[in-house]
Amino acid sequence: MRRKLAAGNWKMNGTTAALSEIDAMKAALTPGVDVLICPPATLIAQAAAMSGGIAIGGQDCHAKDSGAHTGDLSAAMLQDAGARYVITGHSERRSDHAESDADVAAKTLAAWNAGLMAVVCIGETLQERESGDTLDVIGRQLAGSIPDGATASTTVIAYEPVWAIGTGKVPTPDLIAEVHDFMRAELTGRFGAEVADGFSLLYGGSVKASNAEEIFAVSNVDGALVGGASLKAADFTPIISALAASAD
Ligand code: 13P
Repeated sequence: MRRKLAAGNWKMNGTTAALSEIDAMKAALTPGVDVLICPPATLIAQAAAMSGGIAIGGQDCHAKDSGAHTGDLSAAMLQDAGARYVITGHSERRSDHAESDADVAAKTLAAWNAGLMAVVCIGETLQERESGDTLDVIGRQLAGSIPDGATASTTVIAYEPVWAIGTGKVPTPDLIAEVHDFMRAELTGRFGAEVADGFSLLYGGSVKASNAEEIFAVSNVDGALVGGASLKAADFTPIISALAASAD
């Protein structure tokens, strides 16, 4: 059975005062759902020290282990600070920092080497969707961003359509199903059914308490990567509960 994962990406939000939100989220922990919060790197060590059963992750890592890369963090540093996961290839990294699929694959390998679970993000832009290129883009990003040897114990994959992030626009369940079914089929072609069936596939982009149940009912959706609605326990807790209540 695949793991269900409710993941929060705090992006560039949160100072020490926000740790109380993680504390309040503990009340929603339930055996069938893994919960992950990726706070800013400045909070990882403190969050990991008080997060109980909530896993803590980074939002990015460098592909190298160490060296002259001012401002960057290695996967081993995140692991040492208490992170158990790291997001790679988020669309904001791809656009703000010109990260290519090859960069994302290198970061994902670095994450594995440090013992971190990678949450690899892919997703089409509005222009790509409107030109009918969505599945081509998803296929290319999947092939290029996920290194050989990926398994469910090292890798989670998040489909985040760029046009749905922070916009309040969510694809219809049919559109989400089309992409998630396609991802599962592509993964099956590459890794074989046994390995491919194990990967948890997350949907991300304007997930909220009000749409979570509908999204979690979609085939091949095993959880969510949540931005804005993961910042407050009052918003995130119902999303965790909706995932727990969804059919396997
Ligand atoms: P929002 O939930 O704020 O749309 O952000 C989604 C996201 O980018 C999570 O990584």
